[in-house]
Amino acid sequence: MKNKILVTGGTGYIGSHTVVELQETGYDVVIVDNLSNSGIDVLDNIKKITGIKPEFEKFDLADQRKTDEFFGRHKDIKAIIHFAASKAVGESVEKPLLYYRNNLVSLMNILECHIKYNIPNIVFSSSCTVYGQPDQLPVTEKTPRKDAESPYGNTKRVNEDILQDTIAANSEIRGIALRYFNPIGAHSSALIGELPLGVPQNLVPFVTQTAAGIREQLSVFGDDYNTRDGSAIRDYINVVDLAKAHVVAIDRLLKGKNKLNYEIFNLGTGDGLSVLEIVKSFEKATNIKLNYKIVGRRAGDIEQIWADTTYANEELGWKAEKELDETLLSAWNWEKNIRGIQ
Ligand code: NAD
Ligand code: WQD
Repeated sequence: MKNKILVTGGTGYIGSHTVVELQETGYDVVIVDNLSNSGIDVLDNIKKITGIKPEFEKFDLADQRKTDEFFGRHKDIKAIIHFAASKAVGESVEKPLLYYRNNLVSLMNILECHIKYNIPNIVFSSSCTVYGQPDQLPVTEKTPRKDAESPYGNTKRVNEDILQDTIAANSEIRGIALRYFNPIGAHSSALIGELPLGVPQNLVPFVTQTAAGIREQLSVFGDDYNTRDGSAIRDYINVVDLAKAHVVAIDRLLKGKNKLNYEIFNLGTGDGLSVLEIVKSFEKATNIKLNYKIVGRRAGDIEQIWADTTYANEELGWKAEKELDETLLSAWNWEKNIRGIQ
């Protein structure tokens, strides 16, 4: 019998790629998503890749009654990967209560069901946003967290605390928080990828939409940072590499290989790249000239961050493998596919 994994937010960007990797490793997957930021057609596209349409239920995990009722009907779930959350930093500043309700209440509802229905394992999507602008680079898992720059960032910080405290009080639950750096790219099939609603806030979707002619010009936010070319530096991680780390984390928990009941891992490449380096690499990988201009800094942006991935490399035996060119090309192929560009 295959082990069944619940993937919340499984029709979303990172969730859908993780479902593919889980299925290809031999796990059974059930997805819960309220489709607030994704489409139902993702299920068919997953089936085109893996041959298996995942089981799916649509409801809001912030609804305690529906969440409890779901777990009452699915007593065979061995682990949960909890992706479902609202993730737009700017929107979270405008609508903090929406973010606190959605992101905190859904995790609390799930953890209550872990206890009630004896589900022993959880993997949680955290973010490098919890480090703010660190005093020392690269950041290890022991780098102190900083006050969040946004309500969204604060939900990740508080959710980590909720998870840690709940595990401390319930020794039968084991959890792994994965702190993602900047996920980019798409599946090599170009059948699943990131689908931002409206104007993209993140760099790579804005780059691909500019290349596709949907946006006239990319604004590069700031060239006066204290970095090698003046633009801000991030650690851009391929979404398929990231998805694979979730399978490793699930294997670790199911095989009881975890060292502590609550563990944290940074998921990045270990290399920092500037905005201008991303622009140049995209141009080289796709042979497309990007229309961009340098503008002022974006409020709330940090100057630079990249991950020390030693702990994930050594303890999980996982490493980001994809080259940047391949990753940027995959993002472009996905954009072309959804826009019908040859
Ligand atoms: P996404 O928006 O593509 O996927 C999230 C999914 O969760 C969506 O399909 C949405 O419909 C669903 N969802 C949201 N609230 C829900 C609720 N209450 N009930 C049921 N479904 C709900 O986002 P993503 O980029 O795949 O991110 C996944 C996770 O990773 C999130 O927790 C996000 O905060 C975290 N994360 C993302 C990034 C990033 O840059 N993409 C970086 C660090 C951390
Ligand atoms: C990357 C760089 C921008 C758009 C966000 C969240 C973070 C995490 C990942 C979830 C920055 C620059 C961007 C543009 C630009 N998400 N940029 N022009 O801000 O590092 O992180 O997503 O947890 O919490 O804050 O990612 O892709 O928005 O920006 O110059 O049009 O690209 O200033 O330096 P960010 P991003």
